[in-house]
Amino acid sequence: MTTAAGVTPDRFRHVMRHVPTGVAVVSAASPEGPLGLAVGSFVSVSLEPPLVGFFVARTSSTWPRIEPLGRFCVNVLGEEGEDVSRAFAVSGGNKFGGVRWEPSPLGSPVLDGALAWFDCTTHSVTDAGDHVFVLADVHELSVRPAGRPLIFCHGTYQRLS
Ligand SMILES: Cc1cc2nc3c(=O)[nH]c(=O)nc-3n(C[C@H](O)[C@H](O)[C@H](O)COP(=O)(O)O)c2cc1C
Repeated sequence: MTTAAGVTPDRFRHVMRHVPTGVAVVSAASPEGPLGLAVGSFVSVSLEPPLVGFFVARTSSTWPRIEPLGRFCVNVLGEEGEDVSRAFAVSGGNKFGGVRWEPSPLGSPVLDGALAWFDCTTHSVTDAGDHVFVLADVHELSVRPAGRPLIFCHGTYQRLS
């Protein structure tokens, strides 16, 4: 049995590379324009009430600008969304160049071609080590049923075959 002291960041990262995730873009409409960041940590939390969540690194430059708005959309990317994911995995800057979107019922950006989207308001933001855990109330949601998800595993983008 390995002790916690042996769980170095390198070993943690190495093992987690083998754990597949979907890819989502958390987007928001600010007075200065649309904002967003890519997350692989999006998760369904509760049916009643409908809650979802994701984890954001404390180093994120975009989340501190989204948090005060109190609302955002989580866009789950389809298998053709690799370029969109790459654009939103860059820190800061205008990530929406060339990305088409329309407002959700609450006014947050729904990205063109999203496989699924969740129109959210913030329920709570709690400490999670070097990340924060964002728990969100879902007000509206939609899916493109025939679409297939983009997967991230082994440090690369993958598709269901
Ligand atoms: C597939 C993938 C999944 C990611 N998942 C997360 C995540 O769950 N939480 C997070 O904070 N950053 C995640 N990132 C990294 C952020 O997208 C990246 O740090 C981005 O630069 C943050 O932008 P910002 O500094 O503008 O907030 C992920 C990146 C990729 C490519």
